[in-house]
Amino acid sequence: MTATTSPRFGVWANVYGTWASAHHPDDPIDASWERNRDLVVRAEELGYDSTLIAQHIMNPSDHDRDQLETWTAAAALAASTSRIELIAAIKPLLFHPVVLAKQAANIEEISQGRLSLNVVNAWYRPEIERAGIEFPEHDDRYGYGAEWLSIVRRLLNGEVVSHEGRYFSVDGYRLRPAGRFRERPVIYVGGESDQARDLVADQGDVWFINGQPIENVRALIGSVDARRRLGPPVRYGLAAYVITRPDEAAARAELADQWRLNDLDRAGLEHVIAGADEKAVMFHTFAKYPAIGTNGGTSAGLVGSYDQVADRVVAFHRAGIETFMLQFQPFESEMERFATEVIPRVHERLGASLGERTG
Ligand SMILES: Cc1cc2nc3c(=O)[nH]c(=O)nc-3n(C[C@H](O)[C@H](O)[C@H](O)COP(=O)(O)O)c2cc1C
Repeated sequence: MTATTSPRFGVWANVYGTWASAHHPDDPIDASWERNRDLVVRAEELGYDSTLIAQHIMNPSDHDRDQLETWTAAAALAASTSRIELIAAIKPLLFHPVVLAKQAANIEEISQGRLSLNVVNAWYRPEIERAGIEFPEHDDRYGYGAEWLSIVRRLLNGEVVSHEGRYFSVDGYRLRPAGRFRERPVIYVGGESDQARDLVADQGDVWFINGQPIENVRALIGSVDARRRLGPPVRYGLAAYVITRPDEAAARAELADQWRLNDLDRAGLEHVIAGADEKAVMFHTFAKYPAIGTNGGTSAGLVGSYDQVADRVVAFHRAGIETFMLQFQPFESEMERFATEVIPRVHERLGASLGERTG
C-alpha cells in the first residue's frame, strides 16, 4: 500500500525534557513550558507539519523529574502557533469523556481547527494507581477506552449525546459552540495490540505505529487494512528517532556515542520497566529491537547519511506511512538539520507526487 498524500513530518514535544539520554553534555534535561513553546514554534517555522504532546502525569523515568502537562500545554501552544497540527495524547482513565471533549473542543477553537487526539490506553501503572484510580487489566482498559471514545467522538461531532453503557451514563449532553472549522478533530490511536488495532479500525482516523523494521510495519498496516471499517481508510503514522550526518560513518559513530550515554541511563530505564504493565504489547516489541529513543526509536532505521535516511523515509512512505513523528538529541539542532538536509531530499525523490500535496 502507498500513502496517498505526501509524507508529513512531526516532532515529539519534549514533555519529559529529553527523549534519549539524561546525560548528554549538550542537551540538559528541560521539560519547561518555555523550552517546549520555543521548540514547537521553531518546528512550525522550519516547515514541520505536526507535533505530538505525549501524556504522563508523573515522569516514568524518575518521579522527581519535571514533566509537562499535555492539555494545558496544548491550549497554550494553540495560542502560540498558527499552522502546525497539535496532537494531544489522552489516557481515558484520567478524564471523564464529557470534560475531555469540552477541553478538546475549546482547544480546537483556540487553534482554529488544528487539534488532534492521540488515544492511548495506558501502560504505566504508578501514575494511575498512586492516584487511587483502578488500573484495569489490559483488555478491560481497551473496553473502557472504546466506550469513552464513542462518547467523545459524538460530542466533538456536535451531536446531542445520550449513552448508557458499562462505564458511563450520559444524558442529553451537547457541546457548544460545535466545531466551526471542520466536522471534528482528528483521532489518532497509539498501541500495538489487537485491541488497539480494533479501536483504530472502529473509531480512529490514524494509527500510530512504534518504530521498527519496515517488514513489521508492512505487516501491521496490512492487519489494520484487513479489518472491517466504515468510512475512509485508516491512515498511518510512525514514531522514529533520527541520527543523520553527511556520511554513514559519522552517523554510525554518533549512534555508538549515544549507546555509550545510554549506559548511564540504566536506572531510569529500570524504573520505567518496573512500572510497565507486562501485558502491554509494545514492550514485547521493544525487547526484540533495542533502540535509542522511545517508542521504537532508532529501530525504524532512520540512522545514516542524509541520502540513506531520505531513502528510508521514502520506503516507509511507499509502505503506507503518512506522518513521521520524530525524536532527536540534541533536539533543537538535530531537528533543524533534518529539516534542512533530509526533508528536501525526500521531496526531490517524491517529486512526481508533490503535485498531489499542493493540488
Ligand atoms: C506514537 C505513540 C505514542 C504514544 N504515546 C503515549 C503517551 O503519551 N502516553 C502513554 O501512556 N502511552 C503512550 N503510548 C502507548 C500506547 O498507547 C499503549 O499504552 C501501549 O502501546 C500499550 O498498549 P498495547 O498493548 O496496545 O501496545 C504511545 C504509543 C505510540 C505508538
